[in-house]
Amino acid sequence: MILLVGHQKGGVGKSTLAVNIAVELQRLGNDIILVEADPTVHTVTNWSRDREENGYRHIQTVQKTGNLRASLDEMSGKYDYVIVDAPGKDSREMRTALTIADVFVMPFQPSQADLDTTEGVVGTLTEAKDFNPELKAIAVMNRAATNVFTKDIKEAREYMASFPEIILAETVVHERKVYQNCLSEGLGVVEMKDSKAKAEVQLLTQEVITW
Ligand SMILES: Nc1ncnc2c1ncn2[C@@H]1O[C@H](COP(=O)(O)OP(=O)(O)OP(=O)(O)O)[C@@H](O)[C@H]1O
Ligand SMILES: [Mg+2]
Repeated sequence: MILLVGHQKGGVGKSTLAVNIAVELQRLGNDIILVEADPTVHTVTNWSRDREENGYRHIQTVQKTGNLRASLDEMSGKYDYVIVDAPGKDSREMRTALTIADVFVMPFQPSQADLDTTEGVVGTLTEAKDFNPELKAIAVMNRAATNVFTKDIKEAREYMASFPEIILAETVVHERKVYQNCLSEGLGVVEMKDSKAKAEVQLLTQEVITW
């Protein structure tokens, strides 16, 4: 199964979710590969180097750019899950991966700036579906405030409901320091102590793969 984590916007949490979903899928006993498709920002490569240096369980990572279609097709025959971390812009990598992915995972933050870009991503998604009609798309709210009084989550849910092309994940990923620490330590939050973050990633992973 090919999971593509992408957006046309930078900094929404693509790499954070990609590595965390990858670690959880590995923990569940799957054979996985993480594909870093961003030629400029090397979050996954750096994370994986730190993981290696700290002696944590190896995760296969590879860098791929340009047209990803053929390489993803080949990898999907060898691994249970291929997880692609796309660049933070409308890119050839994202567009070609969309034509072969099984699930498109779109992280976004419940801010107006992020919500405003949804329409653009939906346009790209719709074009990709002409080539890949089976493609599923799931949006994941990331960095939501843990303050229970905030209306951001409810408002973002209402906004996303106007895009039937993308299902909004039930699981909300909140703003937590552990998500920043995991990137710099080469870990996934499921390997760390924060039980709330761990539950979020486990529930989200189930939603993404069983949907
Ligand atoms: N849920 C979260 N809680 C706290 N910090 C977060 C969370 N998600 C992401 N971050 C932080 O936000 C920043 C951007 O995240 P990340 O690198 O995953 O985004 P990205 O979409 O991959 O960015 P780019 O487009 O540059 O590749 C990082 O510093 C990361 O640690
Ligand atoms: Mg990234």
